[in-house]
Amino acid sequence: MAASVSMDSHEGPAIEFNSVRIGFEEGDILSNISFRVMPRETIVLLGETGTGKTLSLKLAAGLLKANSGSVRVLGKNLSEMSERELLGFRREIGFVFQEGALFDSMTVAENVAYRLLEEKADPDAIEPQVLEALRFVELEHTTELVPSELSGGMRRRVSIARALITRPPIVLYDSPTAGLDPVTSQTIITLILRLRDSYGVTALLATHRLQDGFALANFHFDRNSNRVLPNSSNGSSAPVSSTRFLVLRDGGIYFEGSPEQLVASNDPYLKRFLV
Ligand SMILES: Nc1ncnc2c1ncn2[C@@H]1O[C@H](COP(=O)(O)OP(=O)(O)OP(=O)(O)O)[C@@H](O)[C@H]1O
Ligand SMILES: [Mg+2]
Repeated sequence: MAASVSMDSHEGPAIEFNSVRIGFEEGDILSNISFRVMPRETIVLLGETGTGKTLSLKLAAGLLKANSGSVRVLGKNLSEMSERELLGFRREIGFVFQEGALFDSMTVAENVAYRLLEEKADPDAIEPQVLEALRFVELEHTTELVPSELSGGMRRRVSIARALITRPPIVLYDSPTAGLDPVTSQTIITLILRLRDSYGVTALLATHRLQDGFALANFHFDRNSNRVLPNSSNGSSAPVSSTRFLVLRDGGIYFEGSPEQLVASNDPYLKRFLV
């Protein structure tokens, strides 16, 4: 699975929010948000429930449009694109929805193939791609099962396979470990690390779990040993990716910085995330 050409040929931020505002009848949820995700970077989006993490991811995927400001992905302004252009462009962006959001009446294979089926791709071409994506999450034996026959962790892995089917250079993860036990959460984080460090995926990841963010910041997937290793133990082949944290609060970005800066902060609000 190779990163898409468009990322390799693109210089500048993979994702760029400029003064983005979005709101509903009750008022603004995001009032003035600006940030950038550089290629191969992982941004961990933290924030209490209702602060707009999912909305931010949907804006980045072009599933929602900002009321004002601009969202650029791979240099393209999403609000200037037609629905039709966006449909094609979404191949560049994998989305792992909150709770997985699989279609209950479809088999695992159909769920994973969904994007390709929607594009009316050649059925003969679909099957090997579905198997490749499922092999990545080690679930190639589940193609004919339906989601209710899978455990919560397996469903989450299927939703990762579904996001990978177009080999996107950018993946948006919406609370990928929410509701999972610690061991299963670790499996999901390992997959995210593998994807990032094997294929150079750029990621924007919403979570309530700070430890997920620290795992992404402090560990990498080593292709030689096929294992997750702490960054410090492998200085010579240090990972090319870097991880930053972004905390949303009251419609704005309350904090943006490295994991070290977050840990060192004396801010009482930020400290509540650290306990
Ligand atoms: N289509 C919509 N219409 C009206 N309000 C909406 C809509 N979508 C989201 N909201 C509101 O925007 C706010 C932010 O929602 P969002 O789902 O982004 O929060 P979140 O940070 O992802 O929360 P959680 O941690 O619970 O997943 C919520 O108050 C939600 O009710
Ligand atoms: Mg959410």
